[in-house]
Amino acid sequence: MQKLQIGSQIAQVGGQDELCHAVADELEALIKSRAAEGKMAVLGLATGGTPLPLYAELIRRHREQGLSFANVMSFNLDEYEGLGRDHERSYWAEMWANLFNQVDIDPANVAVPPSIFDHAEDAAAKYERAIQEAGGIDWQLLGIGGEGHIGFNEKGSAVTSRTRRIALAEQTIRDAAPGFGGEKQVPTHAMTMGVGTILEAGRIVLMARGSSKRDIVKQAMSGEVGPEVPASFLQNHRNVGWFLDSDAARS
Ligand code: F6R
Repeated sequence: MQKLQIGSQIAQVGGQDELCHAVADELEALIKSRAAEGKMAVLGLATGGTPLPLYAELIRRHREQGLSFANVMSFNLDEYEGLGRDHERSYWAEMWANLFNQVDIDPANVAVPPSIFDHAEDAAAKYERAIQEAGGIDWQLLGIGGEGHIGFNEKGSAVTSRTRRIALAEQTIRDAAPGFGGEKQVPTHAMTMGVGTILEAGRIVLMARGSSKRDIVKQAMSGEVGPEVPASFLQNHRNVGWFLDSDAARS
């Protein structure tokens, strides 16, 4: 893997396997060091295509090397509004299919933002409280959207934003359309952790791959910090790691 400076930030650049191994290594080290102290490792996890090879590597380590998730607590970043847990496109279902069902995590230690609620603000506040009660997020995984969203913090999201209901951007809906069989089927709203919620994590790892992410990654890492590109707020975090494949990193 190579280091590449983009603006004030340093990216780790490599092939997909190398990137997944490096990120899995740091996650494994965290989980094991917390276990040795008799503590939980509190993770913030993402859905979408980017983390899938990482989750496959974590499952492999669980099966072949005995990496245990018994002391892992997980909070997902976001969830589509209105999709029940049994809906195959719900992030709840995706996380169980792609990771949780295949490791030894305690189901009681898994949290995904609520998708069905009477009062969005109460539901959001409850999710924030659960994160606080867990002691905050130790390690947060992020992907990046085509317009720079992290979680579903779309363009315009404030640095102080907390978990809340949000309208999905047109681009986000377009990107999700193939999985839903058309734009009209994509939920118009979601519940997402806020930028402020994300920035409180002790360590943040953003992964990106493919040339379609190249321009937005560059803007996030070296452009003006502000709500136009919510991922740019990561420039102000004290412990963020950018893990990019060469297509996403090439300038
Ligand atoms: C998903 C999430 C989103 C995705 C982003 C990139 O939980 O929070 O911000 O990380 O849209 O998606 P992919 O990885 O599919 O390119």
